Amino acid sequence: MKIAMVASESLPLCKTGGLADVAFSLSKALVKAGDEVVVVLPFYQAIADRHLKLQKLGGFFVQMSWRQQGAAVFSYEHEGVRFLLIQNDYYFSRESLYGYNDDGERFAFFSLGALEALKVAGFRPDVIHVHDWQSAMIPCLLKNREDPYFDHAKTVLTIHNPAFKGMLDKYFLNDFYGLSDVLFDSGAVRFEGMVSTLKSGIVFADKVTTVSPTHREELLTPAFSQGLDGVLRLRERDFVGILNGIDTEEWNPRTDVYIAQNYGKGKDLEDAKHLNQSDLLSSFGVNWMGGPVYGLVSRLSFQKGIGLAIRSMRRALAHGANFLVVGSGEYELEQELEELRRDYSGTMGIYIGYNNALAHKIYAGSDFFLMPSLFEPCGISQMIAQRYGTLPIVRYTGGLSDTVHGYRDLGSSRPDGLAFRDYNEQGLDYAIGLAEEAYSNQGLYYEMARWAMGLDRSWKKSAARYRDLYRSIA
Ligand code: GLC
Repeated sequence: MKIAMVASESLPLCKTGGLADVAFSLSKALVKAGDEVVVVLPFYQAIADRHLKLQKLGGFFVQMSWRQQGAAVFSYEHEGVRFLLIQNDYYFSRESLYGYNDDGERFAFFSLGALEALKVAGFRPDVIHVHDWQSAMIPCLLKNREDPYFDHAKTVLTIHNPAFKGMLDKYFLNDFYGLSDVLFDSGAVRFEGMVSTLKSGIVFADKVTTVSPTHREELLTPAFSQGLDGVLRLRERDFVGILNGIDTEEWNPRTDVYIAQNYGKGKDLEDAKHLNQSDLLSSFGVNWMGGPVYGLVSRLSFQKGIGLAIRSMRRALAHGANFLVVGSGEYELEQELEELRRDYSGTMGIYIGYNNALAHKIYAGSDFFLMPSLFEPCGISQMIAQRYGTLPIVRYTGGLSDTVHGYRDLGSSRPDGLAFRDYNEQGLDYAIGLAEEAYSNQGLYYEMARWAMGLDRSWKKSAARYRDLYRSIA
């Protein structure tokens, strides 16, 4: 089967969050299972900077209502997955992937361009799988315009982040997408008085998915759906939750090239943890004071509960813990973290930005991994931490509920992390109290760590579910 993934980011070329992991590892797993996959991406400056060997397939024009924008498509292959990169320097030759006031226009160009690029590449997909608001208009475009090339193409939308709805002024519909205002007036793509590309995807895609079973239920519930429950209920029968996996080749403590000591869940685990921990602490230039080492690797976004983590960690640091962070994002959160480091410069370390080597060291060398998210459609880091035998501390929400069984929780016969429910400081402090209890009983700690390491987080099962879904429509 021929699948076109249209995403705004994908490893190994560009990444700001988990979408990049999923776009690539799902594609890789589909290719392994025998499907033909292309991943269509914008040709960002960050990709151009890598000077990869690319093949130019051709130039074309993207018609955006009365405008015509030039574009070219380049092809690149990595581990059996083919990437189609859409070049237009005006839109994509910028420092960051997103965050510009013309993002709505940039991704209108991308969505329209992706369809043209598939033609230039001669790739006639059975399924076009779009991700999040940036490409979510494609199902609507296919259902409301004549295009014989895509006659038999079916569409799937995956919601990774319901907080971003692709809100555009009404005039975008006609003026950029070349679609009729009727779609707005009828309510099909209207959301709070504007056009929402995400809503249009929910309405027009043949199937809609999100990235965990619990988040699917949340999205159907007014209190947790961020406004999407109404429209999703209309599509309830075509809406499924499929849990993400992790790339078990990239994230493998036995072969990881970034960590001081490779290990498995055998008897070398304890020694490896100590070696990796010393290496981690010295990479950040901080000292061990005898307490647990807490790690955090995340986009610094309100979604991730960073504010809660900072306040609880201030107390833990005062009692001899270490706290190490890799991430970047919202300015205020970066500032608050800097402030905490000023107060605890000997025991706390931060790397603002993404640093792959340091991230790997945190997963291997920390005792606990913090992820107290406000909401979390799936979450990938908690699964990576488990695979590295580092117990995650999470809030029970979305995919965190599906992947972590908290120590001392009813129903957790085999705990593989620490968890709390209420999004407040008491909640997180409660879980940190449990973490300290587990830490002071190293036999118990390592029993949980070994169990967590043995959980099957490969993409195989999830990819099979996507394949079934594709085959149910195409
Ligand atoms: C988004 C979600 C995260 C999920 C990821 C990949 O970043 O916030 O929970 O794991 O997408 O699906």
